[in-house]
Amino acid sequence: MADVRLPPGIKGIHVLPADHHDGPWDSIIVPPGTKERLLGTAILVLRHGRALRSVSGPPHGLVVLSGPPGTGKTTLCQGVAQAAATVVARRGATTFVEVDPHAFPSEMLGESQRGVRRLFTETLPELAARRPHTVVLVDEVEALAVRRRTASFETNPVDVHRATDAVLAGLDALRAACPHVLLLTTTNFTAAVDEAFLSRADLVLELDLPDEEVLARIIGSSLTELATLWPALRHLADDPALHAKLAGRCAGFDGRRARKLVLASVARHPELAEDPARLTAEDLLAAVEAAAGLSTVAGSR
Ligand SMILES: Nc1ncnc2c1ncn2[C@@H]1O[C@H](COP(=O)(O)OP(=O)(O)OP(=O)(O)O)[C@@H](O)[C@H]1O
Ligand SMILES: [Mg+2]
Repeated sequence: MADVRLPPGIKGIHVLPADHHDGPWDSIIVPPGTKERLLGTAILVLRHGRALRSVSGPPHGLVVLSGPPGTGKTTLCQGVAQAAATVVARRGATTFVEVDPHAFPSEMLGESQRGVRRLFTETLPELAARRPHTVVLVDEVEALAVRRRTASFETNPVDVHRATDAVLAGLDALRAACPHVLLLTTTNFTAAVDEAFLSRADLVLELDLPDEEVLARIIGSSLTELATLWPALRHLADDPALHAKLAGRCAGFDGRRARKLVLASVARHPELAEDPARLTAEDLLAAVEAAAGLSTVAGSR
């Protein structure tokens, strides 16, 4: 459920758990242990953040997911919000807040700093007061917490530096006021994110491009989804050797490209698009050859 009027800097507010938010968590295939660490950190902060204030080195409630485009960072954040909300649901609902990092334009001197301060000291604490649990997502956090050491004063307005300082001060203020709020952040580019921000993170998860085994599972899962719509495709979904063969030919693909492969193979011919139940292993292999060929061309430019 999205609120109609959103506070400044916020692009979405949802109440979790909600059935229609099931899906993202299971759809992302990552190496063993990754989801467990993410979910464990989320539950610890949501469930025990207040109590842990008394220990030395309490959690900051901050998670950073970094990795190349299309590796499932945003989807995992959406998924873990729902998964953690489900675990803590007995104690009340969770507000899932999506921050718009581009709502704080750095070219407006002083403006972004004020906006960032208001976000952490007013908007987020006010939203956190609504329900027992709160998860905040800041996608593309490098837009907000630019690494000050490498942001030169010639190319970056002084305001960028001040905004990053404001983010750090804001994080500390938010942790002091709301130690049970979980802040999930993503970035394509850890090197652009301020070190002091990273050092506050309770968990920095580096997501790599999927290896062959993960690619095969992504392709298998996409075919299984298609087979629920067109049961005649079940034999393709149940053919791990085919998935492995396809995966072997799309080395270097990110998860998004691998997911798109199955639909791309259907879309290559109007008659297949009309009746996807006619999809064959040969169509899939032809589509992967074409897609891999495209990446060779792109790579040789
Ligand atoms: N590891 C994966 N397993 C399964 N599907 C994946 C995986 N990675 C990406 N995908 C697919 O790619 C789509 C895009 O993923 P998502 O937007 O979460 O990536 P991202 O890392 O946030 O990318 P960007 O950096 O471009 O924002 C997802 O909807 C998902 O279907
Ligand atoms: Mg993303």
